[in-house]
Amino acid sequence: MAQARRPFFCGNWKLNGSIAESVALATDVRNGVATVRDADVAVAPSFTALHAVAKRLEDGPVSVAAQDCFWEEKGAFTGEVSPGQLADAGCKSVILGHSERRQLLGELDAAVNLKARAALKAGLTPIICVGETLAERDAGETLGRILAQLDAALADMSEAELGRIVIAYEPVWAIGTGRNATPAQAQEVHRFIRTRVASRSAAVAAKVRILYGGSVKPDNIRALMAEEDVDGGLVGGASLSADSFVRIVKEGASV
Ligand code: 13P
Repeated sequence: MAQARRPFFCGNWKLNGSIAESVALATDVRNGVATVRDADVAVAPSFTALHAVAKRLEDGPVSVAAQDCFWEEKGAFTGEVSPGQLADAGCKSVILGHSERRQLLGELDAAVNLKARAALKAGLTPIICVGETLAERDAGETLGRILAQLDAALADMSEAELGRIVIAYEPVWAIGTGRNATPAQAQEVHRFIRTRVASRSAAVAAKVRILYGGSVKPDNIRALMAEEDVDGGLVGGASLSADSFVRIVKEGASV
């Protein structure tokens, strides 16, 4: 990654953990990264554990992310959680447009955009996920798919708003499969994303952090981070163990 950007590692815990388990894992992560000065670290527990984890991590170096939000602030929207409620619970960021939501729950590009803009209004950092399926990659459609997801997600954002987002490239075929993208495959897409952001603002493109996600492990993060446009990791399975997540942060931050 380039010196101009500060590495960012976020553990996406997905649908895992009781409140007590989440607080314990967060505590171990906080203790494990206590000596890390040169990276931002976040964990993303389930909704039910957000407040308790945020309380435990208060005033420490590890921040809390949610895994989704709605785009309205309040009203008759049964089952939804607003960005303001997430901020109230202690969240600083929110993962949006994860491929599991796109694939299993029918999340649309337009919804990702509405959610991201609502999150920005509430003072949260949207971590916007994009990524192609294996069929799309095999058909040579990777960059076209990324372009469509990215343009839709970033539509109608001001330059100031663009400057506050984080983007995560997560190839669907690499998620939970143990088969990470090669550093060169990640770099190709990360560069493409940065170039696309540069068409809106060169200043933002130089600063925006683009995380890689998909089977990130302690033994592959260094090679990924060695690529110029890889600025951190969005880590699923390996973030459920404090030991492996802390190793990823330490390895990745020291590249
Ligand atoms: P894995 O690290 O388990 O492949 O998951 C990646 C991911 O989906 C992070 O959001």
